[in-house]
Amino acid sequence: MRIDVFSIFPEYLAALDLSLIGKARQKGLLEVSVHDLRDFAFDRHRSVDDTPYGGGAGMVMKPEPWALALTSVLPDDGAAAEPDSRPVLVVPSPAGRVFDQALAYELAEEEHLAFACGRYEGIDERVLEWAAERFRVMPVSLGDYVLNGGEVAVLAMVEAIGRLVPGVIGNPMSLVEESHSDGLLEYPVYTKPASWRGYDVPEVLLGGNHAAIEAFRREEQLRRTASRRPEMLDGRDAADLSRQDLAVASGLGYSVVDGKLRPPAE
Ligand code: ADE
Repeated sequence: MRIDVFSIFPEYLAALDLSLIGKARQKGLLEVSVHDLRDFAFDRHRSVDDTPYGGGAGMVMKPEPWALALTSVLPDDGAAAEPDSRPVLVVPSPAGRVFDQALAYELAEEEHLAFACGRYEGIDERVLEWAAERFRVMPVSLGDYVLNGGEVAVLAMVEAIGRLVPGVIGNPMSLVEESHSDGLLEYPVYTKPASWRGYDVPEVLLGGNHAAIEAFRREEQLRRTASRRPEMLDGRDAADLSRQDLAVASGLGYSVVDGKLRPPAE
């Protein structure tokens, strides 16, 4: 997978040299290039921002450096490419669609992703219109809070997407068993010693009864999800849950109404 990141703070993205993503780059599984937007600003001060039309606080990123920068990673005539085969341009923004594991899986299938990190009050809106003729443009938010720029969001997204690219994670089973992979939070994990400062590992995990261990873990997933993220269970198709799951849910006060799981009344 090819990834191009554009930023006025390329040093921010140095973390992509580390750990699993750094190793995947060395192995050639991910080809990540970080570009300094200022390399595409050609006025005397290499400026990338200007005051907003209509007034208001702060500065807005100028369009021309963005067009030059984004063009530099397109094949000769990006506008000629079939819309479906165009690279995806992710524009981190609190005004975007919220990033989640499903979107991470979707983007992990792409051959070429570009990320445009905005700063200040944002990027001149015409850049997105221009880019929509050359990329599949996707404004994406990390969550309902405001960061100073897109760089931290890109670090999070590239890590979440990159680890789903085949070969990046040594043991692909760890992807299957983790939080969100089946719409539930992950079960709790423990290691030695079995008794630590008066806290004991649940007894069932110390024996070799694999069916009992699996049932215990599944129950913990449901309990955790119900207590920490109840909206993930509300409205879930009862047909997608086992009889054992439904018994656990019922013990937690859930009921099935018109085939859907519903939370205990307030
Ligand atoms: N830039 C500023 N805030 C952001 C957010 N919440 N998500 C993605 N990019 C951002």
